[in-house]
Amino acid sequence: LQKQEEYKSRIRQLLIEKDACLVAHYYTDEVLQQLADETGGCVSDSLEMARFGNNHPAKTLIVAGVKFMGETAKILNPEKRVLMPTLEATCSLDIGCPADEFTAFCDAHPDHEVVVYANTSAAVKARADWVVTSAIALKVVEHLADQGKKIIWAPDKHLGEYVQKQTGIEMLMWDAACIVHEEFKAQRLLDLKKVYPEAAVLVHPESPDPVVELADVVGSTTQIINAARDLPNKQFIVATDRAIFYKMRQAAPDKEFIEAPTGGSGATCRSCAHCPWMAMNGLENVLHALEQGSDEIFVDESLIDDARRPLQRMLDFSA
Ligand code: 13P
Ligand code: SF4
Repeated sequence: LQKQEEYKSRIRQLLIEKDACLVAHYYTDEVLQQLADETGGCVSDSLEMARFGNNHPAKTLIVAGVKFMGETAKILNPEKRVLMPTLEATCSLDIGCPADEFTAFCDAHPDHEVVVYANTSAAVKARADWVVTSAIALKVVEHLADQGKKIIWAPDKHLGEYVQKQTGIEMLMWDAACIVHEEFKAQRLLDLKKVYPEAAVLVHPESPDPVVELADVVGSTTQIINAARDLPNKQFIVATDRAIFYKMRQAAPDKEFIEAPTGGSGATCRSCAHCPWMAMNGLENVLHALEQGSDEIFVDESLIDDARRPLQRMLDFSA
């Protein structure tokens, strides 16, 4: 604990000295979320992380999350230095959508508008017409369908399926998934609902359809935190990364939050209700990045303009 306090005070000091600010996702360790809040940084979903980094005057952004979040910050702010606690923190959706294969897929359907989830590499974004996060996916797809566009959707098949069902709009879909949300199991959730009959079920739309079907509210991380605060229920079963409980408890201190059940437990499931890549972020590597300027994000110059266009479109659309 004493070590933790030393790290925190050194990080606070370096953030000021280096004109830096800490931007953290809700799935990172609560000690980082707390520190980002305390030091005037931001704790949020991927859409607001992008917006915050874009608006903040600091010369350096420390992005605690996964690589696509650091890349997004760099693409939107090429003049800023963007550091991450570790460049090893990736995402199964990013891995599941290699740029060369994706480009070939898009080239085979030139009459389609290309919509990609933020959880993708800079090269995939550079091939897209639109980037979306879970917070605005439905609205963007509806907007495009209103204009009569045919749509390619990538890479999350579960989020894509959710969007299709909600909007009734058929899309050409890539086949990748989040290894964390894919572990939630509908039958076990039904059993748990019997134990907590008064609980509302909050589900992130990266979860499989049978789990989404059992939800009272489906939404991005921010949207389900708001639902926890606003709904009258006193108990919530939550199907997303458990690190979100820190903010949910802050938003609704008198309520109880219960993890949605997954297929495995303990050592049998590396990704049960906690993202193994988000878990790589800690005080020690935040401090190291600030001290050494290590784990800096660079995005290929030739991709920056093409990747910024669909990202900026997302920010403008949701402004
Ligand atoms: P949000 O945009 O809802 O924060 O989701 C990001 C993410 O990676 C969820 O797994
Ligand atoms: Fe990617 Fe899933 Fe981790 Fe989010 S929780 S960063 S979608 S692997």
